[in-house]
Amino acid sequence: MSNTKTILVTGGAGFIGGNFVLRQVRRGDTLVVNLDALTYAGNLDSLDSIEDNPNHAFVLGSIGDRALVDYLLERYEPSAIVNFAAESHVDRSIDSPEAFIQTNLLGTFQLLEATRKYWRRLSGKARDNFRFLHVSTDEVYGTLGATGKFTEENPYRPNSPYSASKAGSDHLVRAYFHTYGLPVLTTNCSNNYGPYQFPEKLIPLMIHNGLKGKPLPVYGNGANVRDWLYVEDHCRAIERVLAAGTPGEVYNIGGNNEKTNLEVVHTLCDLLDELRPDSPYRPHRKLIQFVADRPGHDLRYAIDASKIQKDLGWEPEETFETGLQKTVQWYLSNQTWCQRVMDGSYRGERLGLEQSGAG
Ligand SMILES: NC(=O)c1ccc[n+]([C@@H]2O[C@H](COP(=O)([O-])OP(=O)(O)OC[C@H]3O[C@@H](n4cnc5c(N)ncnc54)[C@H](O)[C@@H]3O)[C@@H](O)[C@H]2O)c1
Repeated sequence: MSNTKTILVTGGAGFIGGNFVLRQVRRGDTLVVNLDALTYAGNLDSLDSIEDNPNHAFVLGSIGDRALVDYLLERYEPSAIVNFAAESHVDRSIDSPEAFIQTNLLGTFQLLEATRKYWRRLSGKARDNFRFLHVSTDEVYGTLGATGKFTEENPYRPNSPYSASKAGSDHLVRAYFHTYGLPVLTTNCSNNYGPYQFPEKLIPLMIHNGLKGKPLPVYGNGANVRDWLYVEDHCRAIERVLAAGTPGEVYNIGGNNEKTNLEVVHTLCDLLDELRPDSPYRPHRKLIQFVADRPGHDLRYAIDASKIQKDLGWEPEETFETGLQKTVQWYLSNQTWCQRVMDGSYRGERLGLEQSGAG
């Protein structure tokens, strides 16, 4: 095999994990062991292009399956673990929080325990260079008023079962550094968008519905503010933290692109008008419908990403405009991928997707 290192990626059939896995496998020097439970959010269609690539080993299973994780660590001896696996949709956490506790909290705990046992047995360079990178969210910090940004020093104030379960996992990761010396890194990132995002999230849902002339549901008055980052920029940031981050440190990642949900939807409608000039649904803004707000909906998130910029030299490459243009083009060119998600055929079942969550 041509690869020179092996990493274990969890949740690599999901949106961000999938983009990350594609990048690593295409580089050609890394064997990626991809452990994913294939929940509704896991989609092997996204990994079609690397299906037969010898640098990708897909394993169906859960991060909470201790025996399986022990076996994978023993067999593949990875030099790093990148933990994307999670239940990630706020609306689903409000309806059914249990799966969020199971995977985000207990699953991460099992993964940390297996990693601790594995890392303890390593020696020399393998032990010194090993890293456990935990991918988390800005939602753990709670909500902001009209001003200010989240720094790494902000206290945790999670407001949804999703963010509470992620906050709990972040605390466990931190404790494994302070208690056991496990070389962990944590990243807290703002809202991502880009190719392969499941169409229950705001941007792909609006594109999908806009193309079909369906209503574009916007929570409340659309004034909630999120900071948006193109998924490839997030993947580059994770690569940077993995390569040069200091164990035990937390890095906030953001795009400096604060937008209200309504601004995002307006921009998407205008892009669809431009890219689909013959659409009978122009102007797409006509399709916007305001719907009852999400309970406990955080008003504003904004990330101060100056630490990762200063310490590791990372900056986003895409602006919101260039990233969104690429994203809409991707969905227009990959309608089969979207259709197979919407009709459930990507996993052999039908799903009801009506939410408009933006994290
Ligand atoms: N999407 C965002 O905007 C965003 C922003 C910041 C941080 N994050 C974090 O990044 C990570 C990835 O987010 P995403 O949007 O790609 O999520 P996603 O929901 O698209 O993907 C999650 C993946 O994890 C898998 N999974 C779920 N439970 C599992 C388990 N027990 N064992 C193994 N695999 C399991 C799913 O099958 C899926 O492939 C999450 O930890 C999330 O909290 C997401």
